Amino acid sequence: MTHTRAFVPTMGALHAGHLSLIDIAKQYSSDVVVSIFVNPLQFEDPDDLAKYPRTLESDSERALGAGASEIWAPTEKDIYPDEVQLIDAGAIGKKYEGAGREGHFDGVLTVVDRLFKHVQPTHAIFGEKDFQQLFIIKKWVRKSESPIEIISAPIIRDVDGLALSSRNTRLSAEDRKYALIISRALRQATHERSVESARDRLHDVLASEPSFELDYAEIINEDNFEPATSARKARALVAGWVNGVRLLDNMQMSVPTFPTVVAP
Ligand code: PAF
Repeated sequence: MTHTRAFVPTMGALHAGHLSLIDIAKQYSSDVVVSIFVNPLQFEDPDDLAKYPRTLESDSERALGAGASEIWAPTEKDIYPDEVQLIDAGAIGKKYEGAGREGHFDGVLTVVDRLFKHVQPTHAIFGEKDFQQLFIIKKWVRKSESPIEIISAPIIRDVDGLALSSRNTRLSAEDRKYALIISRALRQATHERSVESARDRLHDVLASEPSFELDYAEIINEDNFEPATSARKARALVAGWVNGVRLLDNMQMSVPTFPTVVAP
């Protein structure tokens, strides 16, 4: 039997969302590698990079405790020993998350490529929380005819609905309450009957919270990332800031099911 290796790439500051990725990885292989590397190429804001939590020791303990067989925490020199040739994420890399964060997805693809080359996984697990990242990685893997199977993992939320993120630790208790507008808006919008009303609802609910600063809110088609025209395979995306902390989240539209009417 061929050897399998499941890979969970992370930037550390592990939370229950990351541990759920390790859990999924274990379904694909008993050899589970977790990498911890804060990739400077995907940060356009030096302040955001500097503030990114670095908690290697506790991260390693948590990952091993969750069943990882190996932790790999390379240095910047290990990953980028020479001049870097960026991988172009294409037009889609310039939309939504990529619009205000120039080069972000080029940086993500460049590091993922290097991590894959080192780890040589058969499977790699990425969370749906970063849905555009997942889409871009899947597309690039398909295009480069890589044999690595990309597995998507569902978003993990706190009991109050906030999607887990390493950045949540930077929210005060008050900020957290404001941040809940995101999941509330997504829940309400994705239960609308049409994409048009979902879009309106998303914007209306988000605008009702003055402490939330909107970056973008859109309903996209999951197959091509274009604005959705029907609820099938449509997903609502939101990104913005609460008190300077950038937050993003998404939710799939629940397609309305109509009762079958049986003619008398
Ligand atoms: O999703 C992340 O944590 C990062 O973008 C990744 C995939 C580890 C690349 O640095």
